[in-house]
Amino acid sequence: MDKNFYITTPIYYPSAKPHMGHAYSSIIADFFARFKKIDDYNVHFLTGTDEHGLKIQRSAEKQGIDPLEFCNQISETFRDLSKTLNLTNTDFIRTTEKRHKKTVQHLWNVLEKNDDIYLSKYSGWYSVSDEAFYNDDEIEDVEGDKIAISSKSKVEWIEEESYFFRLSKWGKPLLDYYQSHPDFIAPESRKNEVISFVKSGLKDLSVSRKSFSWGIKVPNNKDHVIYVWLDALTNYLSALNYPNSNDQLFKNFWPASIHLIGKDILRFHAVYWPAFLLAAKIELPLKVYGHGWILSGEEKMSKSKGNILDPIEIINQYGLDPLRYYLIKEVSFGNDGNISQERLEDCINSDLANNYGNLCQRVTAFAIKNCESKIPNKVKFQKEDIEILDKYKNNLDNIRDKIDNQNINFYIDYIINSLFEANKYFNDQEPWKKKDDLLRLNTIVFTTLEIVRKISFLLYPIIPNSSLKALKIFNLGESDINFSSIGNNEFLIKDSKINKIDILFKKIEKNND
Ligand code: ME8
Ligand code: MG
Repeated sequence: MDKNFYITTPIYYPSAKPHMGHAYSSIIADFFARFKKIDDYNVHFLTGTDEHGLKIQRSAEKQGIDPLEFCNQISETFRDLSKTLNLTNTDFIRTTEKRHKKTVQHLWNVLEKNDDIYLSKYSGWYSVSDEAFYNDDEIEDVEGDKIAISSKSKVEWIEEESYFFRLSKWGKPLLDYYQSHPDFIAPESRKNEVISFVKSGLKDLSVSRKSFSWGIKVPNNKDHVIYVWLDALTNYLSALNYPNSNDQLFKNFWPASIHLIGKDILRFHAVYWPAFLLAAKIELPLKVYGHGWILSGEEKMSKSKGNILDPIEIINQYGLDPLRYYLIKEVSFGNDGNISQERLEDCINSDLANNYGNLCQRVTAFAIKNCESKIPNKVKFQKEDIEILDKYKNNLDNIRDKIDNQNINFYIDYIINSLFEANKYFNDQEPWKKKDDLLRLNTIVFTTLEIVRKISFLLYPIIPNSSLKALKIFNLGESDINFSSIGNNEFLIKDSKINKIDILFKKIEKNND
């Protein structure tokens, strides 16, 4: 049977400069997408831009241009970012596209038909920056301004006619759903947060606005535009051509395997979105994972706070793969992570250059010199060779399981340990002292080369370009990479040529003043 995997990033608000938080969400999603791809899944990986709402309308007004013109420009910077980050996304959706509007209006009609939407009047606090409504007990007074406690963004009072979604009706079904699907919200701490929010009682949700026009029109009342979150969340369905349930994309990929999001937008994904879906009788996604924030000092890195480490600058200075590796390793997944250039440099030197790069160079140079630049032909494994090789095979299911639980830290620790172990094996076996026992020398080289091959496969989801560069040693390319074959101890073709490769990672000179 076909194995399908549908992963989404949040669709980004087009802000002039994508920041490290955006890069982080996308890189993590790409890691999972690539892993599943080499594990023989059909992968659909969606990202895009969230282009409606008052925030965008005001940003466009500030620049004196039409909102669509504004979005056309800035959405492009996110498309560029996905290329710069070497993402394997299979689609890029914009909420201003026709295919998306069609799906949103359809969903609205279904909700209205099911009596889950009614017209009334909204009065309350609204944050344009979060595009979110807040209750009195969710805001505080800071120097005369009203601020949302959770996001620290400014709120304003609004009073207008509005359509409402009967969210209050869905509290009990949601709680039942969380209970019968214990993996739906992860990590565990976030699940508890959501459950206690829902238990505290849900109020009906305002789902249209009348006082501005930049949005998708409510089907039967052109004075209203649909609330931007109801609009945005639906992108996960419109990208699969819902409501056409005969569509192959929809058949293969719904329900989504995982919506990967930041913890600040958990409520939208773990409460509102499943409530809309329940009301529309559409299956729920299998998992919503709320990752932590990239911090700068103690604060969330964000444009409005001006504490941004620019991913593009970092990539220009250090290269993409070091940044991908660093973000995946350094942030304990699920928690907030503080990042710094200093730690990035340490990571490049110790893990990438000394540990991985050095292993690749050493064994290749040795094989070129002592094995006629070929994968050794005659080998006879001893206990210690089999032991180190078999560990990979014996861990495949464990690794799969850890990945399905989003335990990225396990995955990267596994690789780091494997690298230490491989370097130690090569040192301890001292092939340079075996020149009068060529069978042993060849076996040690073969074993170490197999390990380089296995680890390079494992590294592919994290640092794809460098992994592919290393695999050139064996003339292997992207289509050869396969997770199951990490378990094969004699994958390399005996007698085939070994290529010398350029240095994989340049060590960073650190000045100690
Ligand atoms: O929320 N660290 O868009 P967005 C880690 N359009 N992640 C961060 C971060 C940080 N410092 N700052 C932002 C939106 N993010 C909506 C999504 S989905 C239907 C609509 C993450 O551009 C944030 O948590 O404000 C979110 O997951 C993503 O970047 C997009 O944020
Ligand atoms: Mg945001």
